[in-house]
Amino acid sequence: MCGIMGYIGKGNAIPVIVDGLARLEYRGYDSAGIAVYRPDNDASEAYLQVTKKKGRLADMVDALGDAPASQLGIGHTRWATHGVPSDKNAHPHTDCSGNIALIHNGIIENYAPLRKQLMLEGHDFVSETDTEVMVHLIEKYYEDSLEEAVRKALGAVYGSFAIVVISAQEPDKIIAAKKASPMIVGLGEGENYLASDIPAILGRTKKVYIIEDNEFVILTADSVTISDFEGNPVEKEIFEVTWDLELAEKGGFEHFMLKEIHEQPEAIRKTIAGRINDGMVDFADLDFNDVLKKINKIFIVACGTAYHAGLVGRLAIEKLAGIPVETDIASEFRYRKVLWQPDDLMIVISQSGETADTLAALREAKSHGIKVLAVTNVVGSAVAREADRVIYTHAGPEIAVASTKAYSTQLVVMYLLAIYMANIRQSYDQDKLKGLTHEMCYLDTMVEQVLKENDALKALAGKYRDVQDTFFLGRGLDYAVAMEGALKLKEISYVHAEAYAAGELKHGPLALIHQDVPVLALITQDKLVDKSMSNIKEVKARGAVVIAICKENLQESCQECDEQILLPRVNPLLAPIISVVPLQVFSYYMALYRGADVDKPRNLAKSVTVE
Ligand code: M6R
Repeated sequence: MCGIMGYIGKGNAIPVIVDGLARLEYRGYDSAGIAVYRPDNDASEAYLQVTKKKGRLADMVDALGDAPASQLGIGHTRWATHGVPSDKNAHPHTDCSGNIALIHNGIIENYAPLRKQLMLEGHDFVSETDTEVMVHLIEKYYEDSLEEAVRKALGAVYGSFAIVVISAQEPDKIIAAKKASPMIVGLGEGENYLASDIPAILGRTKKVYIIEDNEFVILTADSVTISDFEGNPVEKEIFEVTWDLELAEKGGFEHFMLKEIHEQPEAIRKTIAGRINDGMVDFADLDFNDVLKKINKIFIVACGTAYHAGLVGRLAIEKLAGIPVETDIASEFRYRKVLWQPDDLMIVISQSGETADTLAALREAKSHGIKVLAVTNVVGSAVAREADRVIYTHAGPEIAVASTKAYSTQLVVMYLLAIYMANIRQSYDQDKLKGLTHEMCYLDTMVEQVLKENDALKALAGKYRDVQDTFFLGRGLDYAVAMEGALKLKEISYVHAEAYAAGELKHGPLALIHQDVPVLALITQDKLVDKSMSNIKEVKARGAVVIAICKENLQESCQECDEQILLPRVNPLLAPIISVVPLQVFSYYMALYRGADVDKPRNLAKSVTVE
């Protein structure tokens, strides 16, 4: 996720900003930039000095050189979403005159039409970012008040944003606004700070305002004025930071994994953002309809968690778009004889976009002239560069080795794609597709609801912390989620976990079931509930304790299970996004109770770049 740091006051903004951005480096970024105010002197009028560089923060600092001190500045570390990592796409962005500079976290969803309109009006764009429209809009509305211009610009955009703006014309202030992207104000003596996160200002002040959605900030060296977007004043309490740097980096959570689990509602919102128009999924900007319309067969290829997302993707695409799909493990796919047909499509899924086996499978497909669509989280990654088209998940950087928000956002993309293909191929009832699209917009709040079960899941993990073996059972989509749940548990807690298709258990592994083997049963598929219950009876008869992860409306059918974790009512097709959450939280606490290194499990790496 991008980092923001702003400073106004009696000190020198440059080292304060650089230091603040350095404290946010752990989150990952691909470029850095800074804009500082240069007052008028004999040689020139006042201006903003902007320095931006792809790469490390240190590269930007080198480019900045021995710059004179400045009392006003804003800085940014960018984690690319729209446009590849490059000097031009790095923030701050400036208006045509170079008098206004802006940094932004989030996504401006309606940037494309705004950009078109602003270009027609004569604005020059130099980057590929969504952000740049914002600064040109401010320029368009600027008369004599930066505050008014920013307020007007906010009225024209929708999406998620934390924006910070300065102007050479009004060097006594920083203007900022927030909607669905984090922002804080740090309060100093004769100086004030703006940042995306608390670590950036730790060591400078412990007094902070946490800025909420739809709040507008005017910062001077001696004052902070907060209002809503309409200008109505907002009263705020000062938050006293007691966290050390390590805790602050994790947003107050004990581990990155737990933080990332809790970031899922926001991540899901960002994945969906800008991809639904008039109640229907819209990927027209992929410019891939000619390929998607005539696909013969799809090969989804991925590793680990991404492979599990592909299993769900397969079921969704087959059901909605009516296209045959095979989902394969990349390291296996590479070595089998694939019976390619013209008009086949490969979809590769990879959080990092750098996984060696996935990349090799992609190259194999390309060598046969097969088109490849990549689903990845990292802009400019190898799979993004080599695929014919790419859909970004916009989950933000995932630091914990165990994948959580990457998985749920991969699922979101697979559903969006399935709905989109079904729509353009007219393979499924239009009204039902609209209904599904509508339901997708509620997934974030459903995940929030499930996250409220944190304490119950923690208690459950406490109860079963000493088990040696577990089974995860499910049918259909529940089986795909069972595989992901089992992977999470073994990966971070080192408890042996096996995922099995519930109906397959009696063909062998039932022999392993006894009273010390808890069974986690996923029950979200209304039409399969009776069949799943028969399998649950089989394991109960062998003495196993059964923990049901079931939808509220199926609770009655699950009465015989020993424990129940209830999920909100959700369309069975979309259930995996909801049902995986308790499994993530359960695994997290199991690992914690067993003293495992949650964020860096033994023997594993975040990005697997070896074959
Ligand atoms: O970056 P990728 O999505 O290509 O990574 C694939 C797997 O290595 C990854 O999902 C791995 O299984 C995770 N550690 C699981 O939590």
